[in-house]
Amino acid sequence: MTLTPPASSPSPGTAPTVAAPPAKLVVDGLVKRYPVRRRDDVVAIDSIDLTVEAGAFTCIVGASGCGKSTLLNIVGGLEAPTAGRVLVEGELVVGPGPDRGMVFQAYSLFPWLSVADNIAFGLSCAGVDRSRRAERVDELLGIVGLEQWRDRLPKELSGGMRQRVAIARALAPEPDLLLLDEPFGALDAQTRLALHEFTRTVWQRTGATIVMVTHDVDEAVYLAQQVVVLRSHPGRVMTTIDVPFGNSRGPDVKRDPRFWDLRDEVQELLFTQHTDG
Ligand SMILES: Nc1ncnc2c1ncn2[C@@H]1O[C@H](COP(=O)(O)OP(=O)(O)OP(=O)(O)O)[C@@H](O)[C@H]1O
Ligand SMILES: [Mg+2]
Repeated sequence: MTLTPPASSPSPGTAPTVAAPPAKLVVDGLVKRYPVRRRDDVVAIDSIDLTVEAGAFTCIVGASGCGKSTLLNIVGGLEAPTAGRVLVEGELVVGPGPDRGMVFQAYSLFPWLSVADNIAFGLSCAGVDRSRRAERVDELLGIVGLEQWRDRLPKELSGGMRQRVAIARALAPEPDLLLLDEPFGALDAQTRLALHEFTRTVWQRTGATIVMVTHDVDEAVYLAQQVVVLRSHPGRVMTTIDVPFGNSRGPDVKRDPRFWDLRDEVQELLFTQHTDG
């Protein structure tokens, strides 16, 4: 759910200006503290500012525990911030909504539902009628290459297939902001590479804005247009690096010396803050 925040009134005597469309996502001074019994609060994230333009592919990297999932969960409307705010297309996020699709870090399909019913779940909740649901599920099964698996249960699928179902389920309500929390973390190298190409294809076909958390620096530099590097304790944005490769890049880009330099730069930043404590 999103709410329009009160518009500030123009100052007297100023000429009206044509407002630029709001960014897809604005994270403004975001703070999240968790109370811990008989101890000081954990400051998971502290003063995070971030702007993501519509249609961009952004990766967030940072050490374990630096607040990546917390940040994504607040953007998804699953947790409330302690301070600060999140705006999606200029509207305040106050809860989850069909405009944002999430793929969670932990395996999260409904084990008792078939592949097709998992994908249709959000559509059923939104009251989409049966024939439109079936059409959309067929389309998504085609996109994720699982047409033959529609009636199977998640336990009958490989890890990579489950993640493709999770991505299809997140895409089903046609969100234009896709939040992916380490979606490929538990997969073998080969499946991971296949899903990189798959994710790029989905991004280009749907025009969605993607914010993806990953531990894998190569993955971040390969997929993203911007890599946001977080520092930990408390989680803050250390820097944002623009990736210079075009959007139709393919695996060849990994042999480009600029790719190695960028990867080294991000790794160095993560390593420096790790050794700084
Ligand atoms: N519900 C909670 N109660 C107390 N502390 C929490 C809670 N959820 C997260 N934290 C703390 O907040 C910090 C950030 O956690 P978060 O899960 O966002 O990290 P992360 O960057 O996603 O880590 P990882 O890479 O391991 O997934 C950690 O110190 C964690 O212990
Ligand atoms: Mg996490």
